[in-house]
Amino acid sequence: MEFKNLLVENNDGITIVTINRREALNSLNSAVIAELECALYELDLDEAVKVIIITGAGEKAFVAGADIKEMAELSSFEAHDFARRGQRLMLLINRMHTPVIAAVNGYALGGGLELALACDFIYASEKAKFGFPEVGLGVIPGFGGTQNLARLIGPNRASELIFSGRIIPAAKAYVWGIVNELFSPEELLPKALETAREIAGKAPRGVGYAKDAIVNGLNMAKEDGFRYEASLFGVLFATGDQREGMGAFLEKRSAAFKGK
Ligand code: CAA
Repeated sequence: MEFKNLLVENNDGITIVTINRREALNSLNSAVIAELECALYELDLDEAVKVIIITGAGEKAFVAGADIKEMAELSSFEAHDFARRGQRLMLLINRMHTPVIAAVNGYALGGGLELALACDFIYASEKAKFGFPEVGLGVIPGFGGTQNLARLIGPNRASELIFSGRIIPAAKAYVWGIVNELFSPEELLPKALETAREIAGKAPRGVGYAKDAIVNGLNMAKEDGFRYEASLFGVLFATGDQREGMGAFLEKRSAAFKGK
C-alpha cells in the first residue's frame, strides 16, 4: 500500500513505520492518523510481521503533537470526532497482537507523546524531549494522554506534567518511568532493532498473548486479571509452539517457532 506521510520498511519480520511529515515536525493531522491506522491494521494481520517500530523522520521530532493548524478551525463536535479518531488509533495499537515499540528520536509532544504512550514501550534518544503543551493552547490531551500517562507513572507526576505544560528532557522521562532506555541518537534505531529481533525469535502467540494479558489485565480487578492470564496460558497449550518450545528445552536445542 502507498502512503503519503509514512515510510514502511520491512526487514526480516521487523517493520519500521516512520512518520514522514518533516515540514510540520511529523505532527498528526487527519491524513497521518488515517494512514497510521490503515498501515498498523494491515501489518497486524500479516503473520510475517513479528514486531513493529514506530519512529519519526529527521533528527528534530518524533511527533510534535496533533496538527494545530487543522485543530484551530474545528467546531466543538468536530474536535470531539478528531479526538475519538486519534483515540481509535491508540486503542488499535493496544488491541494489536503484534508488539509495537516507540523509538522517540526528538520532540514527543501532545499527540506525539500520546502515540508513544500507546506503544508497548518506549526507547528514546538522549536528545528527545517530552511534554503535554495542551493547556497552553486552551485544551487538554485528547488522544488518551490523561489516561495512559496517569496509569503509567501515577496521577501526581502526570498532573505536574499536564498542568504545567512543561517540556522535560529525556533523562527526566527516563527517571519518571516514561522511557525504558535512553541511547545516543545514532544508537536508537539499532538498539530498538536488536530488542525487536530478540522478541521476534520468541513464540509469536506467546508474545501476542502476553501483550493481551498485560494490556487488558490493567483494566481488570486483580483476581479477574489472574483468571484471564490462566485462560490465555491454557489456550497456548493447544499450539505446536508450546510443544516445540518445551521440547527444545528438554532436548537441549534451540526452538524453531512456527507461530501456530
Ligand atoms: N502542528 C502543526 N504544525 C506544527 C506543529 C504542530 N503540532 N509543531 C510544529 N509545527 C510546524 C510549525 O508550525 C512550523 O511550520 P512553519 O515552518 O510552516 O511555520 C514547523 O513545524 C517547524 O516548527 P517550529 O518552527 O515551531 O520549530 P521550533 O524548533 O522553533 O520549535 C517545537 C519546535 C517546540 C516542537 C514547536 O514547533 C512547538 O511548540 N510545536 C507545537 C507543540 C505542541 O503544542 N503540541 C501539542 C499539540 S496539541 C495536541 O497534540 C492535542 C492532542 O492531544 C490531541
